[in-house]
Amino acid sequence: MKLWSKGFEPDKLIEEFTVGRDRELDLRLARFDVLGSMAHIRMLESIGLLTAAELESLLEALGDILAVIDRGEFTIAPGVEDVHSQVEFMLTERLGDVGKKIHSGRSRNDQVLVDLKLFMRDEICNIADATGRLFDRLQALSEEHKVVLMPGYTHLQIAMPSSFGLWFGAYAEALADDMQLLLAAYNIANQNPLGSAAGYGSSFPLDREMTTRLLGFADLHYNVVAAQMSRGKTERALAMAIAAIASTLGRFAMDVCMWMCQNFAFISFPDELTTGSSIMPHKKNPDVFEIMRGKCNRLQAVQNEIALLTVNLPLGYNRDLQLLKDIIFPATTELISCLDMADFMLRHIRVRTDIIDDPRYDHLFTVEEVNRLVLAGVPFREAYKKVGLEVRDGSYTPDRSVHHTHIGSIGNLATDRIRTKFQAVSTQIKR
Ligand code: ARG
Repeated sequence: MKLWSKGFEPDKLIEEFTVGRDRELDLRLARFDVLGSMAHIRMLESIGLLTAAELESLLEALGDILAVIDRGEFTIAPGVEDVHSQVEFMLTERLGDVGKKIHSGRSRNDQVLVDLKLFMRDEICNIADATGRLFDRLQALSEEHKVVLMPGYTHLQIAMPSSFGLWFGAYAEALADDMQLLLAAYNIANQNPLGSAAGYGSSFPLDREMTTRLLGFADLHYNVVAAQMSRGKTERALAMAIAAIASTLGRFAMDVCMWMCQNFAFISFPDELTTGSSIMPHKKNPDVFEIMRGKCNRLQAVQNEIALLTVNLPLGYNRDLQLLKDIIFPATTELISCLDMADFMLRHIRVRTDIIDDPRYDHLFTVEEVNRLVLAGVPFREAYKKVGLEVRDGSYTPDRSVHHTHIGSIGNLATDRIRTKFQAVSTQIKR
């Protein structure tokens, strides 16, 4: 049975091909579909398209459906196309003709849009929370290990002293930048498309400001065509934010794999958090961070997939848009699981404290030596040359003490300033 049934049933093959994974994916929209309908019918009553008594019985029935959803018992029956049809069928089954009235002034096109906006707004909050937890963990580790030095590399060659304070703190600050993109996606998602109907509005005097208020949207997509156009654009903005966070996390995962390698041995994890080999008995592999790196790399492709799906669609609703759900839904889940896993692993990270005592890192301190000479009055280029010649003839001996005091350096991590920056963005992303 279809909402749009006009006396014939579509071919089974056509139905399965077009419905695709909707029956499964739409379950994630169910809660928001009901909330969207509640706001819509309140508005319909206010403009005289439903009586107060009709509104009351509809709200009660929708409340019961919400309870079914919250108990995890809501399903979309075989033969029913999507969540929107399922909810309407449940209402008509219970209330008869009143149930058939709720779709006045609405199309599934703006209904699914409002569901998606609410869903994405919620998922963005979940991503922000998970990012916030990892940010806190990185900042805490940065402070805890701020005096532990490690080599800094350029060109993957030993360069200058770095520290665990800098390393952990760098990824925390990078996440603060990524949050700016997440906030942009949040602001784009936080606009009401309801009332755009099929994409061209309605001859009913819909009170779109009222549904905006009821659904807690910050603003609305005013132009009904722009509202429809936001399908795909919102997903794309979110995918960009996901890509930004994934790129930070993917690079971090790469660092961890490298620092765990015996040739570096800067960090380690308890045995039970590593994985083994079926042939080499000694192995303790960093599979968690390899899977994380791979997943984060794939997540950066999501924005391209969305771009290709939507790049030159004709204006107005096209069924291609349905496939956006297949792309963006698993992406948000995957990102959150990577963020949570990183936080879990970092709770158990072990940091080696004597790394730079190894003579192989002697040359890390050449610039310190040059700077000492400069402070004693030697021109920089002279000092550079003197130390360079010492390195060449083997007479250079490092002084391992490091005095970096400027803001953002080993001795002055600016952890609080970075936290303020992160919070200035994260507090704007709220349910
Ligand atoms: N499952 C559809 C989607 O996600 C719902 C909207 C259907 N609209 C239509 N005109 N067929 O896009």
